[in-house]
Amino acid sequence: SLLLFTVLFLLIADYLKTRRPSSFPPGPWALPFVGNIFTVDFNRAHEALTQLAETYGDVYSLRMGQTWMVVLNGFQMLKEALVTQGDSLADRPVLPLQMDMFHNLGLISSNGHLWKQQRRFALSTLKYFGVGRKSLEHAILDEFTYSGKNISDLKGKPFNPHVIINNAVSNIICSLVFGHRFEYEDERFIKLIKRFDSALQIAASLWARLYNAFPLLMRCLPGPHQTVQQFWSEVKDMIRSEIEEHKKDWNPAEPRDYIDCYLTEIQMKKGDAESTFSEENLVMCTLDLFVAGSETTSTTLRWAFLYMAKYPEIQEKVQAEIDRVIGHSRQPSMMDRANLPYTDAVIHEIQRMGNIVPLSLHHSTNRDIQLGDYTIPKGVVIIPNLTSVLFDKREWETPYTFNPEHFLNEEGKFVKRAAFIPFSAGKRVCLGENLARMEIFLFFTSFMQRFTFSMPAGTKPVLDYCFGVTLAPAPYEICATLRQE
Ligand code: HEM
Repeated sequence: SLLLFTVLFLLIADYLKTRRPSSFPPGPWALPFVGNIFTVDFNRAHEALTQLAETYGDVYSLRMGQTWMVVLNGFQMLKEALVTQGDSLADRPVLPLQMDMFHNLGLISSNGHLWKQQRRFALSTLKYFGVGRKSLEHAILDEFTYSGKNISDLKGKPFNPHVIINNAVSNIICSLVFGHRFEYEDERFIKLIKRFDSALQIAASLWARLYNAFPLLMRCLPGPHQTVQQFWSEVKDMIRSEIEEHKKDWNPAEPRDYIDCYLTEIQMKKGDAESTFSEENLVMCTLDLFVAGSETTSTTLRWAFLYMAKYPEIQEKVQAEIDRVIGHSRQPSMMDRANLPYTDAVIHEIQRMGNIVPLSLHHSTNRDIQLGDYTIPKGVVIIPNLTSVLFDKREWETPYTFNPEHFLNEEGKFVKRAAFIPFSAGKRVCLGENLARMEIFLFFTSFMQRFTFSMPAGTKPVLDYCFGVTLAPAPYEICATLRQE
């Protein structure tokens, strides 16, 4: 009877602690202690969360252990939350997994004064080194030349573009942050890049949810956290050795990259009690820029090749436009974008359908807020469901069809669409948006200028994905045939 009493006591205590306040958003029935987030299929969580909105509306709640989460859906709701009430949602949640791995430092998982100071510095430094400028444009085009050469050496044979594209794209952020690129043959770099994928998949898995729900228990159990922790500490070691190298010939008067500028900032702000510039933070910010800047753009390009192979008539129209506007005697430039409305529309449609950060990153409320009919208290985890916006039936004419016309008017001119928010919106909007847009445009037009993508004989393009923090295409092989020698 003592056992029965204890169980009953725990159930009542759990009910009292986690009961849904009357004005809180509705949601599926939750089990005591465990909650209901575990009813979501984690191999396709973005689709499952979008489906739940059909039953519970644009704002609904889920419970993970003792933690409440609110999922926001649809363009109007995300705009209201992230933009109109953006200040109240500017924080990241302090969850056990993020705390254990990233200590809520750096750019992605930090908050408050530290985040503001680091974000401002990173944005101005990226701008200084040329986001939107010619020098960076040249670096991207040079990188295309290296990767294009490797691909043309394959002479149209089927290949998996994953590693080569990841290397090419990573090299851009590496040039900005470390001041140098890595050779495609560099084994250590290849290994590192390859393991990003699995680290990002684990970060969005059921295991990660369990870790956040029951940290004390999970920390003691064996599981993927040891592997992931080991991986992040290897990346941090690599960054630390880059920093040490920089210190040897660092000259504040002639900064070569982000690390040089940061070292100067640490020096200049010494003695300033408000300063958040430290070597520890430098490692974490560099890690964030490296991860966020490598995986995302390369995933988008891998979707781009697949979509072009699936829709050869669209690929032909892109190539015809590039041939007409740029020709073959020079490389593309950012100035060409305004004259390539169809290509620009295709790029936007690839990003919309590719939906590569399907649930954005978690936010949290830093004060009580009102959304629709509901009150959400301070400290609740917010999931901005970008999938529900990029496929919102109320916003897109043919949400589930690859249709570049979404971004073209009747005269064939490019039109912006407000619901196009693959980079999210508001205070935490992707810090690398301008860089990513530049990379995607220059890489994509360069590939279309030189190659035609098609599936290996006897195979059809399959648009399967692997769910993680990023939604990546399932591994595939493709042929890239040179358009002209
Ligand atoms: C954050 C998307 C490329 C750096 C984010 C977020 C999204 C996103 C959805 C979360 C925003 C939020 O929490 O509301 C993308 C996409 C990319 C891309 C779709 C490419 C196609 C890049 C690149 C960089 C970068 C190239 C490198 C500089 C970051 C950083 C954050 C972030 C540092 C955290 C910002 C913060 O918390 O203040 N990105 N991203 N991203 N992204 Fe990107």
